[in-house]
Amino acid sequence: MSAHPQRIAVLPGDGIGREVIAEVMQLAEAVRRGGHLVATWEELDWGAERYLATGQAMPSGGIEYLRDFDAILVGAFGDPRIPDFAHARQILLGMRFELDLFINLRSVRCFEERLNPLKSVQARDIDLVIVRENTEGLYCGAGGTLHAGTPHEVAVQEMIVTRMGVERIIRAAFEFARARPRRKVTLVDKANVLRFAGELWQRTFGEVAAEFPDVAKDHLYADTAAMELVRNPGRFDVVVTENLFGDVLSDLAATLGGGLGLAASANLHPGRVSMFAPVHGSAPDIAGAGRANPLAAVASFGLLLRHVGHPALADALDAAVTATVRDDIVTPDLGGKRTTAEVGEAVRERMLEQLKA
Ligand code: NAD
Ligand code: IPM
Ligand code: MN
Repeated sequence: MSAHPQRIAVLPGDGIGREVIAEVMQLAEAVRRGGHLVATWEELDWGAERYLATGQAMPSGGIEYLRDFDAILVGAFGDPRIPDFAHARQILLGMRFELDLFINLRSVRCFEERLNPLKSVQARDIDLVIVRENTEGLYCGAGGTLHAGTPHEVAVQEMIVTRMGVERIIRAAFEFARARPRRKVTLVDKANVLRFAGELWQRTFGEVAAEFPDVAKDHLYADTAAMELVRNPGRFDVVVTENLFGDVLSDLAATLGGGLGLAASANLHPGRVSMFAPVHGSAPDIAGAGRANPLAAVASFGLLLRHVGHPALADALDAAVTATVRDDIVTPDLGGKRTTAEVGEAVRERMLEQLKA
């Protein structure tokens, strides 16, 4: 355990983000009271309510303020009353871009056969990591509109790809692969159509791969990768890809591991403050109904704990999540009847049991 009390910024956000983070905070508080973790949390009310009330999603200088924390935990952003997603873009993309969180790591493992949606594949064959580029590509907001509202309206949305951006994410993917038993990286792109960007990705991939002779390299076009994820997910170990492809494929991949209710993510810049969040959004269709699965947020907190130097706590948390699912204390997305709070309580109890053992 590190010496100084770690400072965690907590942004519950909107919709079910608030519901699932409430469970994580109760769990974190129980672990802290048990003397297993020396940390302080600062909850920030950034999100839709604040935006609707004040016109500002966060205070000015908000993203800069986050730099001083050891880590950031996020619920989800998005509110049907703000259809252009303006507030959420400011906060979520603001964090990714301004804190330069260039690695979006989305691991998927299917730890129980009954969570496996595929007939022809065994749960143990679903074990992959999507390493999504998180700071450029189609997400950087370059573009504009001409002749708006006329029959000649033009919209341009640019895909920005830089050598530095591509090289660092590919290198990160090879480093992750080197630490995994199968040691394989699959580049996913559309180099057949997006020729300029694709050529830069492919050339850089070849050059970085040469530094890792002990890691196998593989390539698939994004459409084929989507098919292969369903047909033969066992062929994937580490996938590295452009921002938008990574977004789409990571929801698909999450479904192979039991769905968005279990899928965690880390938004990383090695050596700097990093951000941890479930892959899912604010789920307005179930918000307020007590149906949200809190385990994706709990697992994201596990990634946070591992990142800030508490691997034993992270292992205990993973075991607590697995045991909660094994004991069938699950929300409707996993076929159960339990509420968010009941699952939260179950995982908290199992976490404390793990820590006693
Ligand atoms: P979503 O991920 O919120 O929901 C997709 C579907 O999955 C819904 O049917 C929802 O009920 C279900 N679901 C998601 N998380 C669940 C959970 N924990 N437990 C049980 N069921 C769960 O995606 P969406 O509906 O397309 O987007 C809703 C809003 O969230 C939009 O504003 C979107 O832009 C935003 N969004 C935010 C983030 C984020 O903050 N990281 C991520 C994705 C979407
Ligand atoms: C995600 C989300 C975000 C993305 C949205 C909400 C901006 O879908 O984290 O996967 O597209 O990256
Ligand atoms: Mn997404």
